[in-house]
Amino acid sequence: MITYSDRKDFDPACLLPLFEQASWARGRTLEDTQEMLVHTHLVISAWDGSRLVGYGRVLTDYVYRASIWDVIVDAHYQGQDIGGQIIKQILHHPRLKRVDLFWLCTRDKQAFYESLGFSAKEQIGMVWDRGRHAKPTP
Ligand SMILES: CC(C)(COP(=O)(O)OP(=O)(O)OC[C@H]1O[C@@H](n2cnc3c(N)ncnc32)[C@H](O)[C@@H]1OP(=O)(O)O)[C@@H](O)C(=O)NCCC(=O)NCCS
Repeated sequence: MITYSDRKDFDPACLLPLFEQASWARGRTLEDTQEMLVHTHLVISAWDGSRLVGYGRVLTDYVYRASIWDVIVDAHYQGQDIGGQIIKQILHHPRLKRVDLFWLCTRDKQAFYESLGFSAKEQIGMVWDRGRHAKPTP
């Protein structure tokens, strides 16, 4: 049975195998992951016993806007509604019930998010990527 949690006090090392499965998160370090968890407002994690099999996180002002990041389900557990449950738990979380608009960025999972009620019509996301703007070291 898969259980879901909004606690942040799990071992951050559990996230590293999940990060390796997502192109944008590959190579993240334990130190940065610890720091990221400290400053993230809400984390929803999915567990098969003691194994972390999915997670998603939110940055928010708790009133107007919330952005959803890093939704990843372990490849062995995909297609079992775990990703859907993580998103639903975020959208309906008591601490986020005042939030007007949830925003996220996706390269190729539009159909997944559309099945959960998200729309790509109203907004176009833009990014500034520090890695692409880094000056070469002298
Ligand atoms: C995208 C991801 C989180 C989906 O998680 P999942 O647990 O496999 O998805 P679910 O089983 O909850 O599927 C929920 C719904 O989305 C649909 N869906 C899932 N993945 C999909 C995909 N890649 N394309 C289209 N639809 C998809 C399912 O058919 C289901 O629809 P239904 O409720 O009408 O049957 C998972 O595939 C993943 O971690 N991928 C790698 C990381 C990634 O790309 N994350 C997205 C970041 S933007």
